[in-house]
Amino acid sequence: VAAPAPDPARFGTLAAFEAAAREFMAPAVLDYVAGGSWDEVTLAENSAAFRRYRFRPAVLSGVTTADLSTTILGRDAAVPLAVAPMAQQGWCHPDAELPAARAAAAAGWTFALSTLSTCSMEAVAAETALAGPGARWFQLYIQRDLALTRSLVERAAAAGYEAVVVTVDVPVLGYRGTDLRGVGLGERRGNFPPQGHDRTPPARGRTPLTWELIDEVRTWSGLPLVIKGLLTGEDAGRAVDHGAAGILVSNHGGRQLDRTPAAIDALGEVVGAVDGHAEVYLDGGVRRGLDVVLALALGARAVFVGRPILYALSVAGEAGVARALEIVRVETERAMVLLGAGSVRDLTPDRVQPSRG
Ligand SMILES: Cc1cc2nc3c(=O)[nH]c(=O)nc-3n(C[C@H](O)[C@H](O)[C@H](O)COP(=O)(O)O)c2cc1C
Repeated sequence: VAAPAPDPARFGTLAAFEAAAREFMAPAVLDYVAGGSWDEVTLAENSAAFRRYRFRPAVLSGVTTADLSTTILGRDAAVPLAVAPMAQQGWCHPDAELPAARAAAAAGWTFALSTLSTCSMEAVAAETALAGPGARWFQLYIQRDLALTRSLVERAAAAGYEAVVVTVDVPVLGYRGTDLRGVGLGERRGNFPPQGHDRTPPARGRTPLTWELIDEVRTWSGLPLVIKGLLTGEDAGRAVDHGAAGILVSNHGGRQLDRTPAAIDALGEVVGAVDGHAEVYLDGGVRRGLDVVLALALGARAVFVGRPILYALSVAGEAGVARALEIVRVETERAMVLLGAGSVRDLTPDRVQPSRG
């Protein structure tokens, strides 16, 4: 017997959604969503690292409201915020990706759809096009079959997705103990028919991921490429050389190589190396508007939120996600005003210092 969905207005923090989801979600799904690889060192670091920075507020600045509007890849965006691509949202809600995609569009957030989504990319586009102004991006896992991979990109372009986010930190899956227990659902790529394709070909072996492949993917459509999942200035420089329009600094939410730095700690190095030649985004451990403000001040153009969206989706569907997005926005605006920053342009590195404690 389904319990009535809780009233989303009752939730005041993303942590509250997570706590409710931990009571509510099927254990195998919770394991899959919440978990990280190996000892989960990076998973823990992602959020802990945000707390090691301190703000330098400017008082008496006359700022009473914060304008979050910006541009992302040259397009107007109401907020510098995005929903990270996450596989198989059908495990969290019967309508799968549709509730979060609609809530994001309505709130002006960019929504990144996973290659491994439950709904087809065309269904998500059709069902959310009228929901609001937020952009849709398509996340690409390069498949063993390059012709199939190419067809995914072509379909995304035809369906109105505005960027291709190529995830480059999964040459193989990170090691996760839960997979061995047999309860973890895992992002076992070959086990999902990506975007409605039959399981062709059988997922034996892997495509070696190379920079040359990025050059090839770039020719498949006119869409800008965002490279997701790098953590060093060297790789960021290469991404720019290979035509990336955007770079998403990410350790896959601590699900791939463990003991990599927290995303926020890697951001400065990447921003420095890119030197304005591409936009830089961040995901990993963003749980507060304060985290958003910090990442923007350290040079991120937009900030992606992952797991909390799935918790809100599981607990209260579209209204839950809408509430989660609102919480992040309100927290971000409030922090900006207190910092004396009336717009995202005012968020500069001098607003931040390391914690000395
Ligand atoms: C359940 C789950 C599924 C994910 N699936 C994908 C995916 O299909 N493609 C991808 O590029 N990243 C995937 N990610 C990684 C996210 O895009 C993102 O990098 C990460 O979740 C951000 O960290 P956060 O969850 O701490 O906010 C997934 C993450 C989770 C938690």
